[in-house]
Amino acid sequence: MKFNIITIFPHIFDSYLNESILKRAQKKGLIKIKIYDLRKFTKDKHRKVDDKPFGGGPGMVIKIEPLVKAISSILKLKTKNQKLKTKIVLFTPGGKQFDNETAINLARNYDNLILIAGRYEGIDERIKKVLHNSGLKIHELSIGPYVLTGGELPAMTIIDAVSRQIKGVLGKRESLEEKRFGIGMPVYTRPEIFIYKGKKYRVPKVLLSGNHKKIEEWHRIK
Ligand code: ADE
Repeated sequence: MKFNIITIFPHIFDSYLNESILKRAQKKGLIKIKIYDLRKFTKDKHRKVDDKPFGGGPGMVIKIEPLVKAISSILKLKTKNQKLKTKIVLFTPGGKQFDNETAINLARNYDNLILIAGRYEGIDERIKKVLHNSGLKIHELSIGPYVLTGGELPAMTIIDAVSRQIKGVLGKRESLEEKRFGIGMPVYTRPEIFIYKGKKYRVPKVLLSGNHKKIEEWHRIK
């Protein structure tokens, strides 16, 4: 799976995507993450990526020219490998709610995601028509019912959630245990008894019993 992120803050992604499981997945070649700095697709001296909205209103709007250039340059790369199935995603608080089912669907059915991390008050609406006229569609996604300052966190969220659905990204043990026990189950580790301010905090006995049947049952009812 290749993730292409279009952003005006390319360094935001440096730390999160280069640690832990996502770092390992990139090293193994299971996922590729490419960041496109929107400013590099401008022609003017000041590398302007935004401007005031026509008709007035607060904030700034991402300009259409650099965005179209960025998208078409990513799509051009694609034509070298015709088999890639591409989806273009724009992050906006008004988009379709992203969930685990969408993550599974994206991981199964696509291998090239173009993620547009908008900022400010939005992007020039004409991008939708431009893409439509090229036979493409923008899918608007929201990661939750709140407004963030930009689409960079949503992009990282989706990369994370989609990547862990790709075979081999989680270790065999991690994915097997997730299937057996589910996600978000209560878990415990050493010490068996934790003492704090004179009080003892114990691990449920069944988890120490070695009885796998009983342990699985305990997880099921939790
Ligand atoms: N941009 C700003 N807020 C957002 C959200 N909740 N989801 C996706 N993109 C956003």
